[in-house]
Amino acid sequence: MKNLADHDSFVDGVPHETFAQMRADHPLHWTEAFGGQKGFWSLTRYSDIMAAQRDAMTFSSAQGIRIEDQSREEYLARRTFQETDPPEHTITRRAVNPAFAKPVVAQFEPLIRELACDIVAEALEHVEFDAVDLIAKRLPMLMLGRILGVPDADLDWLVERGDALIGNTDPDFTDTVIDKVDTDAYRMMPFRSPAGVELYDYAEDILNGARDVDDAGILSRVLRADDGAIRGQDFKNFFCLLVAAGNDTTRYSIAMALHLLTQQKGLLETLQAGQVWETCADEFIRLASPTLHFRRTATRDVDMHGRTIRAGDKVLMWFVSGSRDEAMFEAPHTARLDRSPNRHLAFGQGGPHVCLGMWLAKLELKCVLQELAGHINGLQALDAPTWTRSNFICGVKSLTVRPILK
Ligand code: HEM
Repeated sequence: MKNLADHDSFVDGVPHETFAQMRADHPLHWTEAFGGQKGFWSLTRYSDIMAAQRDAMTFSSAQGIRIEDQSREEYLARRTFQETDPPEHTITRRAVNPAFAKPVVAQFEPLIRELACDIVAEALEHVEFDAVDLIAKRLPMLMLGRILGVPDADLDWLVERGDALIGNTDPDFTDTVIDKVDTDAYRMMPFRSPAGVELYDYAEDILNGARDVDDAGILSRVLRADDGAIRGQDFKNFFCLLVAAGNDTTRYSIAMALHLLTQQKGLLETLQAGQVWETCADEFIRLASPTLHFRRTATRDVDMHGRTIRAGDKVLMWFVSGSRDEAMFEAPHTARLDRSPNRHLAFGQGGPHVCLGMWLAKLELKCVLQELAGHINGLQALDAPTWTRSNFICGVKSLTVRPILK
């Protein structure tokens, strides 16, 4: 079994055999202390993850949500509402939720379609190209700009900084690789990353009026809100959360769909037949599950599978494993684009923190695939995909393809 604490275990893609073995034989698995960090428990079965999600009092978000151990000081400096529990979490969640609701996001459909149309047309001008760079990356980036209310001219920079935050374990995204160099100087910054300093500065400029944001965007709305307003340090962290969360997860979901189109026979034809547009996004996102896990901390002793999780222990919910649990999904490693119901866990379903951006992500995926399917008769991979080096966010980071045009 591969060591889940080691980011190198993920450089060739998610180690699905390890997760299958854990689900079968070690459903509550302990990984020993590593790199100066405390050890952690892993939940890999669908039913166990769901049970933990439904008990946020016991499995708390309020001591950090990634593997990294944080001092109280670091936690307080860096936390967002994602690192809080109800009822505190509920106040901010209620304030930001309306902006991400399904009917509100549905109003973006014409814009998303227009952007997707341009992106696909530009990509298909090339005989061969990196589908992550020219397709998967573009739409989430442009939509992030619209959601935040920041100018398009800033997006390349923002996304690059966001990649450096989330990709803090991958030398392709940052020079400050967290498990290779001393990051103590950045311990009060999001993801212990120097990119956090730059993103804080950008957010600071918004706070003090030196940088304009669009009134319709979420940043302006949370600053103006009467109830649940987010200001000061909380605003800076909220900004970093959106730049990080709203960008690469959707990119890797689109990238997984493109990768599968090159691998699984008949998928493109199934899309083109037009019956699966309402279900296909969830299936691709189930298989991508780019946020591999989130962490909780036990607030009391819990007995499970003959072992005891002690109060204070870190517990990782491996959504990527739960979403391929054979006890829940028939043919779990196969894309069945008409799978319905599709109760995957990729968005952290079942708990109070279920993804705010899920409707947006699904709509983006659907629109980009509709555009692509309308223009090609095939997509060939010219190379094996490369994967991010991370046990937290894993996805296809490059995929050279040759489209067969209609
Ligand atoms: C396919 C794309 C996406 C995936 C797989 C994904 C995954 C997740 C997951 C697993 C969580 C739960 C975190 C937890 O339990 O602590 C989450 C929460 C969140 N996501 Fe997403 N996400 C995606 C897209 C987006 C987008 C596009 C946005 C914003 C534009 C976004 C914003 C957020 C926020 C703000 C939270 C925190 C919610 C809370 O704590 O109440 N996500 N996401």
